[in-house]
Amino acid sequence: PTIHIITPTYSRPVQKAELTRIANTFLHVPNLHWILIEDSQRRTPLVTGLLRETGLNYTHLNVETPKSFKIRGDTRDPRIPRGTMQRNLALRWLRETFKNNTSQPGIVYFADDDNSYSLELFEEMRSTRKVSVWPVAFVGGLRYESPKVNAAGKVYGWKAVFDPHRPFAIDMAGFAINLKLILSKPQAYFKLRGVKGGYQESSLLRELVTLNDLEPKAANCTKILVWHTRTEKPILVNEGKKGFTDPNMEI
Ligand code: UGA
Ligand code: MN
Repeated sequence: PTIHIITPTYSRPVQKAELTRIANTFLHVPNLHWILIEDSQRRTPLVTGLLRETGLNYTHLNVETPKSFKIRGDTRDPRIPRGTMQRNLALRWLRETFKNNTSQPGIVYFADDDNSYSLELFEEMRSTRKVSVWPVAFVGGLRYESPKVNAAGKVYGWKAVFDPHRPFAIDMAGFAINLKLILSKPQAYFKLRGVKGGYQESSLLRELVTLNDLEPKAANCTKILVWHTRTEKPILVNEGKKGFTDPNMEI
């Protein structure tokens, strides 16, 4: 199957470094299709050029998260949904693209631009029948969070401290979905509003599967194959108000 990697991305000083880093990973993965969605009004020259130069098989989309989502308006819902509209656009793109070709073998994985991915992860997810799951390092204030797997190889809960009773207490990087399932449930999207922190993943997964359907990977969830790393913001104080370096230099 083709692995469709869905990555939301937005403009900031480290964007090109992040995208270069994960593109270098993806270049080692056979049969990969990268759906990169910019959180912007337009597709930018930086991302357009980078994608072209990678030689990867890709689709370049964009949708800007409305300002009203980015401002902490409603105090009951203080979280900003990062990358949600972009992931939903990619889901819509897949459904539109494969609507007359619903038996096309494929796997869908949401890969944020700042995480670190082992190559083994992509081989593990290739055999996903419905939804496969595995541990993710550096989330929820832990070394790792993980699905709990019993002796029969069934997922029966979540090893997490932050709200372990969420329907799916798993980070975005911790699961992959068979394309057929995405195509057969055309109403399944990430919820944008009224989603409490940590419930974004559940808002999609509960439309697609139950706990009983989950397929543990990474040696029954005993191996870490993905790390929720976050890149430090570079210190650019010496640029000053007007900027010291050439603003035309793409970084
Ligand atoms: C955590 C989860 O790992 C994310 O999958 C989830 O989207 C996020 O929380 C959330 O619920 O807000 P975190 O590291 O905090 O991740 O989020 P980021 O890595 O900053 O953002 C997730 C993705 O969205 C990245 O690929 C990033 O480039 C993109 N993003 C972020 C945008 O497209 N627009 C933004 O304004 C911010
Ligand atoms: Mn991140």
